[in-house]
Amino acid sequence: MKVLVIGTGAREHALVRSLAADPAVEAVVAAPGNPGMAAAAELRPVDPLDPQAVAALAAEVAADLVVVGPEAPLVAGVADAVRAAGIACFGPSGEAAQLEGSKAFAKEVMAAAGVPTAMAHVCETLDEVADALDAFGGPYVVKDDGLAAGKGVVVTDDRAAALEHAAGCLARQGGRVVVEEFLDGPEVSLFCITDGVTVVPLAPAQDFKRVGDDDAGPNTGGMGAYSPLPWASPDLTRTVVDRVAQPTVDEMARRGTPFAGVLYCGLAITSRGVRVIEFNARFGDPETQVVLARLATPLAGLLHAAATGALATFPTLRWRDAAAVTVVVASQGYPASPRTGDPIGGLDAAAAVPGAWVLHAGTAAGPDGAVLSAGGRVLSVVGTGPDLAAARGVAYEAVSHLTLAGAHHRSDIAARAAAGDVALAGGPA
Ligand code: AMP
Ligand code: GLY
Repeated sequence: MKVLVIGTGAREHALVRSLAADPAVEAVVAAPGNPGMAAAAELRPVDPLDPQAVAALAAEVAADLVVVGPEAPLVAGVADAVRAAGIACFGPSGEAAQLEGSKAFAKEVMAAAGVPTAMAHVCETLDEVADALDAFGGPYVVKDDGLAAGKGVVVTDDRAAALEHAAGCLARQGGRVVVEEFLDGPEVSLFCITDGVTVVPLAPAQDFKRVGDDDAGPNTGGMGAYSPLPWASPDLTRTVVDRVAQPTVDEMARRGTPFAGVLYCGLAITSRGVRVIEFNARFGDPETQVVLARLATPLAGLLHAAATGALATFPTLRWRDAAAVTVVVASQGYPASPRTGDPIGGLDAAAAVPGAWVLHAGTAAGPDGAVLSAGGRVLSVVGTGPDLAAARGVAYEAVSHLTLAGAHHRSDIAARAAAGDVALAGGPA
C-alpha cells in the first residue's frame, strides 16, 4: 500500500512514523510534510487547503490511501475531492467535518443524539452574551463558533474578560459565540475510528492545554500528553462509545452525512458523569503522539478499513503494555507571538535516549543540514517506558539534550498521574 499523509505537524509526523512501520506499506509520501518526516517519507509540496491539488497529487503518486491530518483541509472538502478521484481517504467529508467546524452544529447534533454535553447558548449579539453569562454564572466559558485552532476558547472568572473575548469573535464576519456552562473534572481525549457505521475506540489520553505548569496562562494547541490514564475507570472507553461516539455516528448517518474518519471526543469527567467538551474531526495533537506510540496493530490497515467501510470485520486492536508521554517544545513567545528562524541543536542526542523519539512540528530545513524553528510548537518529544513515571523520565531526559533559543516547555506533563494524584470529581465515570 502507498499512503499519502496531508499536513505538517508532529501529529502528522507520528502518523507517518506509524504508517511507515506497517509491513503492508511500501511507501509513504507526506505533503507538505516537515524535515523530520523526510527519514520515513518522500516530501512533496501541496496546498493542503486546495482539494483539487491534493486529489491530483494523490493520483500522481498512485496513493492507495490518503490520510488527512488537520481540520482545515477536511472542512475545505479535501476528503470529498480525493474520494471523487476514486482514491480511499481517511477523513470525513466537508459536511461531516462541520462537527468540528461549527460548535453550534455540534451542539445541535449532540442534542438530537442525546449525547451529554455542557448546556450552551449560541449568541449573535453582546447583549445575548451578557444574558447567557449571567444565566450560567462563573467560571465563564466563551467559545468562538468557528475554527480557531484550539485558541478560540476563553475560560475565566472575569466577566469583563469574557465579554471582551465575545466582542472580538462577534466582530468577525458572520461571527457567533457559544456561551457554556462550566464543566469541572479532569479532561480526556478519546479518538474513535469510524467508517460511518462501526466505531473502534483507541486508548484514552490526556492533553495539557494551558501554556504553563499547573495549568497557568492561556490555552494553546496542546503542550503535552500521556496515555494510559491510570486514574480513569476501566469502563470509560465503553461508556464513551455507547453514550457519545456511536449515537453521534448514528445521527450523522441518519442525516445523510455519514461521518467517517476519526471522531475526537474531548470529554470532561464531571461529578455528574462524562460530558462532551468538544468534537474534532481529526486526530488530536499532541495526544496522537502518545496513543500511536502504544498501538501495536498496524496503522495503515486500520485507517484503510475505516476509509473503505470495512471496520465491522476488523480484528480487535492490540496495544503495547507500555506508557507514553510527550512533551511539546514551543518557541519563545508561543502562543501569543512565536519567534521563528532559530537553529535547533541536540536533535541526535535527544533521539539517542533509549525509548525516546523526536517528532517535528514547526521546523524548516536551513542551510548545511541545519534545522530551524518555523512555528509555535516546534518539537514533540515522546518517551516510552513500562509505566508513566518511566516514560516521563525518558521524555524529559530527551528534552534536556535539545537547544533552541528562548524555547519553553511544561515540566509537569503526566506528573500528577504518575504520582497517583489526579482528582476525580467523585461521581460516576
Ligand atoms: P475547546 O476548543 O472547546 O476544546 O476548548 C478548549 C479548552 O477549554 C478545553 O480543553 C477545556 O480545557 C476548556 N473548556 C472548554 N469548554 C469548557 C467548559 N464547558 N467547561 C470547562 N472548561 C472548558
Ligand atoms: N490537543 C488538542 C487538539 O488537538 O485539539
